Amino acid sequence: MKVTVVGAGAVGASCAEYIAIKNFASEVVLLDIKEGYAEGKAMDLMQTASLNGFDTKITGITNDYSKTANSDVCVITSGIPRKPGMTREELIGINAGIVKAVSSSLIEFSPKTIIIVVSNPMDTMAYLVHKSTSLPKNKIIGMGGALDSARFKYRLAEALQGPISDVDGMVIGGHSDTGMIPLTRLATRNGVPVSEFLSEEKLSEVLEATKVGGATLTKLLGTSAWYAPGAAVSAMVQAIACDTKKVFPCSVLLEGEYGFNDICLGVPVVLGKNGIEEIVKINLNDAEKATMVESAKGVKAVNDLL
Ligand code: LAC
Repeated sequence: MKVTVVGAGAVGASCAEYIAIKNFASEVVLLDIKEGYAEGKAMDLMQTASLNGFDTKITGITNDYSKTANSDVCVITSGIPRKPGMTREELIGINAGIVKAVSSSLIEFSPKTIIIVVSNPMDTMAYLVHKSTSLPKNKIIGMGGALDSARFKYRLAEALQGPISDVDGMVIGGHSDTGMIPLTRLATRNGVPVSEFLSEEKLSEVLEATKVGGATLTKLLGTSAWYAPGAAVSAMVQAIACDTKKVFPCSVLLEGEYGFNDICLGVPVVLGKNGIEEIVKINLNDAEKATMVESAKGVKAVNDLL
């Protein structure tokens, strides 16, 4: 399995690191436009191999897409991250041009690749890749829900004062502060609905903290977060590489599913060797459906800016 990660910034480098540490890929190519930067990150990461016990070969490349040829999975993290106070949507002007150019260069050398889009505004960037390339819909996957769900589980465990490994939950909808839909009704603590342990008030605090999870970190760090985004991508790449058929909420092109068309929005999908193996249909209640409609409106409004 050859994986290319475009963008050797914090998210791209974390992603390469987690993929390598899990030792399921033979090769990770890290590509950046800044001369020598990806080479430096790759060398630094390779010098952790004997310490961390992995055999994945990480190579750094300055802007030469021919070196990414025949990648099974390509991850696009390039573009500018948000600064404190910015929304993900404000990045569209710069990032749209970058994502369009990067995806077309990747596909030129890896026509059969699966693309995972991380750049923000992510749902719109995933939609742009659909519109500007001829990759089939199962091969274009937006990373947002896996990250938002990890943040949801963190907040749930904090509220429950229990271990994260006991908690399960999912965030669907758009990857934005207003568009995320943490499904509190379906979240569980070791199989028991979390509503058995947490009051409605506490659950709504968890929900709100989850939705602004990225913004909270941006404020603390002065830039967008990287560890959890990198880990979320690596978990998705692993599911594809190992054909695990694990379910993740991902931003995918909807053609009638959940009542939406011509939009990329976060819904649960099965990930395997073909990328999106299946879009999972879960029964949402009326309130959740209404929030999904609002979330889709928000994403459509950003898509219109394209
Ligand atoms: C975040 C970015 C990756 O939520 O969108 O941290």
